[in-house]
Amino acid sequence: MKKLIKNGIIVTAADTYKADILVEEEQIAAIGCNLPEEGAEIVDAKGCYVFPGGIDPHTHLDMPFGGTVTKDDFESGTMAAAFGGTTTVIDFCLTEKGKPLKDAIQTWHEKSRDKAVIDYSFHLMISEINEDVLGELPAVINEEGISSFKVFMAYKNVFQADDETLFRTLLTAKELGGLVMVHAENGDVIDYLTKKALAEGKTDPIYHALTRPPEVEGEATGRAAQLTGLAGSQLYVVHVSCADAVEKIAEARSKGFDVWGETCPQYLVLDQTYLEKPDFEGAKYVWSPPLRDKKHQDVLWNALKTGVLQTLGSDQCSFDFKGQKDLGKEDFTKIPNGGPIIEDRLSILFSEGVKKGRISLNQFVDMTSTKTAKLFGLYPKKGTIAVGSDADLVLFDPAAERTISAETHHMAVDYNAFEGLQVTGEPVSVLSRGEFVVRDKQFAGRAGRGQYQKRAKYGELLDTSENPKISI
Ligand code: URP
Ligand code: ZN
Ligand code: ZN
Ligand code: ZN
Repeated sequence: MKKLIKNGIIVTAADTYKADILVEEEQIAAIGCNLPEEGAEIVDAKGCYVFPGGIDPHTHLDMPFGGTVTKDDFESGTMAAAFGGTTTVIDFCLTEKGKPLKDAIQTWHEKSRDKAVIDYSFHLMISEINEDVLGELPAVINEEGISSFKVFMAYKNVFQADDETLFRTLLTAKELGGLVMVHAENGDVIDYLTKKALAEGKTDPIYHALTRPPEVEGEATGRAAQLTGLAGSQLYVVHVSCADAVEKIAEARSKGFDVWGETCPQYLVLDQTYLEKPDFEGAKYVWSPPLRDKKHQDVLWNALKTGVLQTLGSDQCSFDFKGQKDLGKEDFTKIPNGGPIIEDRLSILFSEGVKKGRISLNQFVDMTSTKTAKLFGLYPKKGTIAVGSDADLVLFDPAAERTISAETHHMAVDYNAFEGLQVTGEPVSVLSRGEFVVRDKQFAGRAGRGQYQKRAKYGELLDTSENPKISI
């Protein structure tokens, strides 16, 4: 089946122009004016921008964490993502020490295979480096197409890896062509500060933020960046929340280190005072790193604008307020960390970023899709609008006004972190590999239609026999 998307304004990371798009089967077959209408379903995109489908590089779907499991799984999570204009997610596959990596990957395939509405891929968590892990990693990259590895510098006694593990992961990634991702907070210092707070009877949600101050994020970010420089490797810092971490990334980049940074919508529009909400409501905003003083927001926006940070992830990790967040009613350390963010990533960046003149329209596309595709080996199959690319497309009405609310969202969770936020701009229809998954704001997809995406090595193009290098 052919589709001809007419009258829209195409926006890529590089250009904004008026042209029509011919979709044949799963891919973009032609871009131009006066394309033949014969045999094609006409899709009118008048008044809309046409963006490449969003790529969310940071989700936790169906993930066991904090004594419970995230509320959104691959079905509800990817459906909500689709409504928000995201057509690919890269989820974090957790591993367990002493167990084969391939078992963990198998578990994640089982969680996603019959459920995903949109395409998906996995990053792999590395918690130890030993002969078994080193033996498995070449197949992880070359056969599973997993070219990014996550190291946690926080969550002591749960996920936290030591510096030797981080350094050896950096060295291995350099050799094999992987990108190392870090959750950069100093877990040892946080562990001390939380124990001290609890001993002093400080149990409310706000102490989650007060026991993980910006300095512990800045310190860990600087440490990871320095080790990356020493290893001559490549690093991607997830969920950057504060000026302290931005400074360390800027410093590393100015030295020529291959260091990249992601922030998330929550850090751009919410602040630490949300954790002080009465009646335990602050628990809704407990995630790590925590929300910061408002002054950090300008620094994050500026870092996005100037390219010190390059991508926007959601860090989707949702737990119900009732029945999950309240595990920590008497003790903030027992509140499951994470929030429901996957659905409104594009809307918030467009409304708060583009509409308010903080970033350009083309930067918006780069941050929500193109740069992520390049960094994580999905480009040019995903991440752009070009002949031969997957027809992952978002018809986005830049004038639509909407108030974000749990009453209208599509996530399975019982609250929305952005409740009441007014946004301008909304996805109207979303295509994934040429099929509508959202049409005129109605769900048109199907669980299980999403396909697993093998990714190229760091800095290489996908789907070419010689894998030529790309500059990211
Ligand atoms: O609090 C958060 N961010 N939960 C998800 C796990 C992580 O650290 O990314
Ligand atoms: Zn067809
Ligand atoms: Zn994290
Ligand atoms: Zn995360």
